Amino acid sequence: MTNDTVRDLSQHPLAQRLGMPRIPVLRRHEPGQALLDGPALVSEGPLAPVVRAVLTSHGAAEAGPEGHLAAIVVDASGARTLDDLASAQQILTPAVRRLGRSGRLIVLGPDSAATVGTAAAVTEIAVAQALEGLIRSAAKEVRGGATANLIAVAPGAEAALASPLAFLLSARSAFVSGQVVRVRAQTGPLTGPSPRIAVVTGAARGIGAAIATVLAREGATVIAVDVPAAGEALAALANRVGGTALQLDITAPDAADRLVEHVGARHGRLDVLVHNAGITRDRLLANMDDTRWAPVVAVNLAAQLTITEQVMAADLLSDTGRVVAISSTTGIAGNRGQTNYAATKAGVIGMVRALAPVLDDRGATANAIAPGFIETEMTARMPTATREGARRINSLRQGGLPVDVAEAVAWLGQADAAGVTGQVLRVCGQSMVGA
Ligand code: NAI
Repeated sequence: MTNDTVRDLSQHPLAQRLGMPRIPVLRRHEPGQALLDGPALVSEGPLAPVVRAVLTSHGAAEAGPEGHLAAIVVDASGARTLDDLASAQQILTPAVRRLGRSGRLIVLGPDSAATVGTAAAVTEIAVAQALEGLIRSAAKEVRGGATANLIAVAPGAEAALASPLAFLLSARSAFVSGQVVRVRAQTGPLTGPSPRIAVVTGAARGIGAAIATVLAREGATVIAVDVPAAGEALAALANRVGGTALQLDITAPDAADRLVEHVGARHGRLDVLVHNAGITRDRLLANMDDTRWAPVVAVNLAAQLTITEQVMAADLLSDTGRVVAISSTTGIAGNRGQTNYAATKAGVIGMVRALAPVLDDRGATANAIAPGFIETEMTARMPTATREGARRINSLRQGGLPVDVAEAVAWLGQADAAGVTGQVLRVCGQSMVGA
């Protein structure tokens, strides 16, 4: 639910007649929904068989030479030269004119990181990076709620590509645009035990409640964690999703032990650990005191570090284990009055980057999600003018919904997302903040 009246009014025929720009209504996931609401154009290339297999497995059709497109997937994974770059543009230009509402433009590029360090690779790396600029600009041009994203594919990542591709094609990625997702050969299995056992902190309301709900929709057994003061809402949420409620202040000295004990005793393993609980205590740095600094660091960063460490020490994380930490675009760009919050949200990004290689051995992954402006109780309390401004400064010209963050978390929590690790996925509608 949002109170975005400007967007609602922009749908009205009168607003259209007055020339008011229409703020798109995004296609979002619904039960039983098709992957795409129309045909997809697939360019030829080494990865075309993978793309076609994903489309076929979801019942999506390939497009003919004319008519609207629900998706465009251009395989530029073999691009090494400026001529290759030009070829991608020549395919994209006529195709993008045909892209329909909430359409998906996806370019598969080479993963430049794979070849850094050799003189011969300089042009290749420049070309790979050029595709990032191309896709970020295309994301600002496509209309009607369409998105554009790049998947940078490392050598040997063919099997792991299907998962990010399906997510970015689907309506589950409604608020993900202008992003680069890197996929590499997975170190662990692409399928795991069922049901997946998931812990979500801060699950009583807002984004955490949406994460618990979407994980349960995808078949997970959810352990919902929140402070005792939110006990009633937590119990209601746990009931709704058929999971269990664990009243726990994650900053308490014994919090990690209690969590490990609860999960270990009931399930013996943990497949998805979602660090969502977070707080703000805004103040300019010049006026920052310990009553604002310490609790933000304790909830947003220290608790994440301790819980992750204890879960690993207890050997609870399964070999398709997924750690998903909620960061923020503020952790990427910084924000006036939020040195404490931004420090923790940037710290979370450092945490997953450092964790990823540690988890590689067991096949597990760690990633961060950086939401932009999301319509929650927190943002509903912003002054009207600030809120209105914050909503419009992204390519989709609206705030995201908690479910948009939840869909991204649920995707990264899947066993088949094994090729994506150590990354930050922004769910921000390509916000100018942090660009
Ligand atoms: P919210 O304030 O609505 O919910 C946060 C939940 O965390 C609450 O249920 C709260 O009780 C719980 N929590 C707080 N301290 C806790 C503790 N010590 N132990 C256990 N639970 C605790 O916040 P919202 O908007 O749902 O945000 C969720 C996450 O998303 C946070 O990490 C936030 O920083 C992040 N985020 C939110 C954005 C937005 O626009 N709403 C944008 C970017 C990031």
